[in-house]
Amino acid sequence: MAQLRYLSHSAVILSDGSNQVIIDPFISGNPTCPIKWQDVEARYIVLTHAHGDHFGDTLQIAKKNDALVIAVNELANYVSRNGAKAHNMHIGGSFNFPFGKVKFTVAHHGSSNNENEYMGEPAGVIVTIGGKKVYHAGDTGLFMDMKLIGEAENIDVFLVPIGDNFTMGIDDAVKAAEFVKPKLVIPIHYNTFPVIKADPFEFVRKATEKGLNARVLEYGETIEI
Ligand code: NI
Ligand code: MN
Repeated sequence: MAQLRYLSHSAVILSDGSNQVIIDPFISGNPTCPIKWQDVEARYIVLTHAHGDHFGDTLQIAKKNDALVIAVNELANYVSRNGAKAHNMHIGGSFNFPFGKVKFTVAHHGSSNNENEYMGEPAGVIVTIGGKKVYHAGDTGLFMDMKLIGEAENIDVFLVPIGDNFTMGIDDAVKAAEFVKPKLVIPIHYNTFPVIKADPFEFVRKATEKGLNARVLEYGETIEI
C-alpha cells in the first residue's frame, strides 16, 4: 500500500505511511504548486536531473529535514558540496533504502545546474515503495528502451511528461505508456509555463483509446496506488 501526492510539474511525494520520498521538489518558484517547501516532511529526495524546475528546493528541504538526496553521481556530488547528505548512484543501478528500492534509468535530455555546470546524465527513476513500483520518466523524449522497461519491470504507476518543447508531447507520451504498460499512467510536466501548455485530458482520452488506464491528478491531490 502506498500513497502518491502530485504537487504539480514533475514534483510528487510517495509514502508508505511511515516514509516519505519526494521526487523533483520544484516548489518555490513553481506557480502551480499548492504547498510551501517548508511543508515538506520527506526524509528522502530523489532527483531525475539538475534543471531548476526539478532540483528546485532540494538543498533547503534536505537541510531542514536532514534528508538524504538520491541522485546520479555528478549531481549527488554537487549536493554534498553544498552541505546536504547524498547517496550517489548511476543509470542502470539500483539500491535498497529503508523505504524501498530506487533504480535509475536513461532519459534523453540535459542536466546542468543554474550556473550551467554539467551535472551528469539526466535520468528517469523507478521507485518501489509500499510494494508499489512507480516509474517517473523525468524529462525525456520518447525512446525505444521504454519497451524493455515495460517488459522487465511490472510498473504500477507511470509518470510521463506531456508538455512538449523540452520533453515528449502528448502523442509520444501515449506511445511511451504503450511501451511501459503500467497499471496507471499519470501525465506530468505541463501547464507550469506557457511554453509547455498541454491538455492533460487530451492525453487521458488518447491513452484510454489505446486501452490504458490514465488519469489526471489535480495539483496537490493524493491517491492510493
Ligand atoms: Ni529538464
Ligand atoms: Mn523540466
